[in-house]
Amino acid sequence: MRALVNSPNGATWIAEEDGRMAGFAVVVWGELTRGAAAYLETLEVAAEWRGQGCGGQLLRRAEDSAALTGAARIWLHVDAGNAAAIRLYEANGYRKQGREENYYARGRAALIYSKALAAGSADATAEGPLIAGGRKI
Ligand SMILES: CC(C)(COP(=O)(O)OP(=O)(O)OC[C@H]1O[C@@H](n2cnc3c(N)ncnc32)[C@H](O)[C@@H]1OP(=O)(O)O)[C@@H](O)C(=O)NCCC(=O)NCCS
Repeated sequence: MRALVNSPNGATWIAEEDGRMAGFAVVVWGELTRGAAAYLETLEVAAEWRGQGCGGQLLRRAEDSAALTGAARIWLHVDAGNAAAIRLYEANGYRKQGREENYYARGRAALIYSKALAAGSADATAEGPLIAGGRKI
């Protein structure tokens, strides 16, 4: 996590309420042969702050930072059973691109979502998710 937060190819957004962390989002980006793309590493809102728009705001800020670097598309994995997160992503324009069985653990599949970013010009869709740190993300 520390390496991600300190990465020059990424941004970490923290939502604060009364001096306490209410949530955070980490996004990374990189160059693909057809253009730049970004990946949402993590998005989390503390239980007491959920359902008040915090997740949506963090998501938009993560997207904006990636778009500013020229990323044409943002990708993410979400647990297929995580209805709250899936609703948030779909409500924010993400579309399902695939499914990866046993991604989180045996029997826990991930859905792969992506969304085109306004500032990007190249279409990185055909490339699939980014490879970062030797890991398919
Ligand atoms: C997924 C997660 C980040 C969503 O965060 P959140 O802060 O609850 O998200 P939002 O509040 O922006 O949106 C959730 C709902 O609140 C609604 N909402 C937005 N602003 C609101 C407001 N001012 N008042 C009341 N509700 C509001 C949204 O419309 C949305 O409604 P919906 O459920 O009908 O779609 C959060 O549930 C979480 O941290 N989960 C655990 C970690 C996790 O699963 N992360 C995702 C990993 S891929």
